[in-house]
Amino acid sequence: MKLTIIGSGYVGLTTGACFAEVGHEVVCVDNNEQKVATLLEGRIPIYEPGLEELVHRNVAAGRLRFTTSTPEGVAHGTVVFIAVPTPPQPDGSVDLTYIERVAREIATSLTPDLGYRVIVDKSTVPVKTGEKVADTVRRYAPDGVEFDVVSNPEFLREGSAVGDLMEPDRIVIGANSDRAIAEMQRVYSPFVAPVLITDINSAELIKHAANSFLALKISYINHVARICEASGADVEKVADGIGMDERIGRSFLNAGLGYGGSCFPKDIAAFIHIADQLGTPFTLLKEVQAINGSMVSHFIDKIREKLWVFQDKKIAVWGLAFKANTDDVRSSVAIELIRRLAAEGAQISASDPKALDTARAAGLPDTVTLCESPLEAAQGAEALVIATEWLHFADVDFHEVRKQMHTPLVFDGRNLLDPSAMRHLGFEYHSIGRP
Ligand SMILES: NC(=O)c1ccc[n+]([C@@H]2O[C@H](COP(=O)([O-])OP(=O)(O)OC[C@H]3O[C@@H](n4cnc5c(N)ncnc54)[C@H](O)[C@@H]3O)[C@@H](O)[C@H]2O)c1
Repeated sequence: MKLTIIGSGYVGLTTGACFAEVGHEVVCVDNNEQKVATLLEGRIPIYEPGLEELVHRNVAAGRLRFTTSTPEGVAHGTVVFIAVPTPPQPDGSVDLTYIERVAREIATSLTPDLGYRVIVDKSTVPVKTGEKVADTVRRYAPDGVEFDVVSNPEFLREGSAVGDLMEPDRIVIGANSDRAIAEMQRVYSPFVAPVLITDINSAELIKHAANSFLALKISYINHVARICEASGADVEKVADGIGMDERIGRSFLNAGLGYGGSCFPKDIAAFIHIADQLGTPFTLLKEVQAINGSMVSHFIDKIREKLWVFQDKKIAVWGLAFKANTDDVRSSVAIELIRRLAAEGAQISASDPKALDTARAAGLPDTVTLCESPLEAAQGAEALVIATEWLHFADVDFHEVRKQMHTPLVFDGRNLLDPSAMRHLGFEYHSIGRP
């Protein structure tokens, strides 16, 4: 099929490459000229495992190309996906200006002779956005244009996006017309996954409800970790014991500094806002947010208990990305932690296997030094903080780390390392919810 993706970021580019991989002819559109120029030169603007090979292979096969022109994209694809940002506003509501703009751009690119088009929203949007997109396209498109709007929320995880797209747990198609459903089933026919067909509003709600539930699991275990700390229990054992119940499951029960990234914080805030607006306040989610927000402060208090005053203290921080296997630092808890320690006068030396450039671009305080290797960051440090769960950090030679540090004091904000092994190596070791 001929498919178009508007917005070639983490979601759009990876989705486009995976659609091309299964045989569709894909055009990825982005209005960021520099991003498109980079892609046209054969370079990938983001780090996502497996993506580079996938893009190169499909560009070479003529199934994947890039453009800055929305009219060109709309002329190409019978199915046009929208994968543009839906950032949060200060009150938690979603900024829908990108979506509205793309809806208008699609509308003015449509002509009756192009034939039927399916306009698919893949961005995460509040319930009822599909109706607004359909109204907008109807308002700005010329008479005689045939189209349907579909909601097809995306569940990929950065860091494993290619695998998640090629072998999804489920595909949700929210549509109000049989014709649109048939087109979407053709799009996804090469993928082996259960397909759930719903109305548009339900599909939109599924995404916010799913992310909020996952965030709830994280905050739940993080509060259990606090109870473990207060009582001497071990949160990992508790999580194992809870997670062995198949009604609950072990995933997303890892205690740590809390969730960050470009999705969870904004999606939970959005769902709270949506529920408020619909007159059904979701106070449970407000608590999820509050617990998450408290984790960094709680962790900083632990560090303070040992270092007393942060002014002029050299602290090594391992991790900048919001989670492992990505270069994405948007709403990264690691960056928040660094900013807060730096604001109290600490001299931070930070390292990350993939996110040095994105962190530099995001802007860090002057007192933060970025280091190419974890060992370099640890040199002369009075404390080492692990802020992102890169497995790479667990493989560092800790004999060497101990030699390099001023004081062998480790605060593991992701429970990445084994407490007894670290103590055996001569470190004073603190983590979250574990004795
Ligand atoms: N990143 C994730 O893990 C993830 C997972 C599931 C869903 N989502 C959702 O998918 C959407 C996109 O997220 P992302 O992380 O890919 O964002 P992103 O910022 O990485 O990419 C969005 C792209 O859209 C482009 N764009 C903006 N306006 C445009 C326009 N008018 N025409 C063409 N291109 C335009 C931007 O230049 C950018 O390259 C969001 O709604 C997000 O919540 C993200």
